[in-house]
Amino acid sequence: MGSGECVLDVRDLATYFFTPRGCVRAVDGVSFSIERGVTLALVGESGCGKSATALSVMRLVPSPPGLIVRGSVKLDGRELLSLSEAEMCSVRGGDAAMIFQEPMTSLNPVYTVGAQVVEAIMAHHAADRRKARELAIELLHKVGIPSPAQRASDYPHQLSGGMRQRVMIAMALAARPKLLIADEPTTALDVTVQAQILDLISSLQEELNMAVLLITHDFGIVRQAADRVAVMYAGQIVEQGSAGEVLNSPKHPYTRALIDSVPVVDAPSGTRLVSIDGAAPNLLDPPAGCRFHPRCSRASARCREFEPELAAVGSDTHIARCAAGGGLRYDC
Ligand SMILES: Nc1ncnc2c1ncn2[C@@H]1O[C@H](COP(=O)(O)OP(=O)(O)OP(=O)(O)O)[C@@H](O)[C@H]1O
Ligand SMILES: [Mg+2]
Repeated sequence: MGSGECVLDVRDLATYFFTPRGCVRAVDGVSFSIERGVTLALVGESGCGKSATALSVMRLVPSPPGLIVRGSVKLDGRELLSLSEAEMCSVRGGDAAMIFQEPMTSLNPVYTVGAQVVEAIMAHHAADRRKARELAIELLHKVGIPSPAQRASDYPHQLSGGMRQRVMIAMALAARPKLLIADEPTTALDVTVQAQILDLISSLQEELNMAVLLITHDFGIVRQAADRVAVMYAGQIVEQGSAGEVLNSPKHPYTRALIDSVPVVDAPSGTRLVSIDGAAPNLLDPPAGCRFHPRCSRASARCREFEPELAAVGSDTHIARCAAGGGLRYDC
């Protein structure tokens, strides 16, 4: 697992979308860090701000309407939020790379996949085109594409979804990044291919000793791939700890509800987080006090009024905004 060397350090990050209907507080004071060789899974219901967090780290939030309004994002100690756009461009696809759910939207349909991997290599290495092409075929081989020299001349639509995602991973890894962000990388794929792609990401992570931020809805994936888990609710992290702590000993009532909603303990990959009771909060106007209180069976008058802070719950590495889901009474 981790070497203790912090690769990504996010502090009090806030990203809002200024829409005609009002200000959507998609990310509202999020902090986490990821060490070399460690996978942090960011989990939570649809719309809680997972992608907005990832896009903020990469400075890819569409603006307008989005804006990073405060916080700090340090990659290897370097503050990304104060870099110029040109400097940030060399970070993207360089020290930090991101893969998305649907590779078809990220691959350019009019170029062969080989040409796109060559471009990714040439953007970050002083290689000539012939050398870059050799490297591209090596990379395609490494990500498990059979007959890579032939496949390199294919256009994205000629490949299956799983093969396209492998091409995206090859492009992301072209510059041997220190940080890989994978936003639901396997959601569009069938279960067998999902498992292969996750295995691929984890073997490449080991080889490159990358920090990985893995965004997922899928508890099977969390169990399979995560070293640490951060649970997000309504723009905030409500619980964070080692995978064992969070999965086996959840403290926050929301984490508990998510885990209880998965039918079996060792949920296989493909087990989606089923919805829990009550509506997800409106981020235009989040509830006062604890944001989860309208859906929490244990909420008291205090929870409606005071917003709880993250605090240690049991160990130094396990923090939560409330411990009422762990059998302890919430008492702040
Ligand atoms: N371009 C945008 N304009 C306005 N609001 C946006 C925009 N992008 C995201 N949002 C809002 O920000 C909030 C967080 O969205 P985000 O995409 O980060 O959720 P998510 O956790 O990734 O959900 P999912 O699991 O469905 O991918 C949502 O309320 C969403 O409607
Ligand atoms: Mg998302």
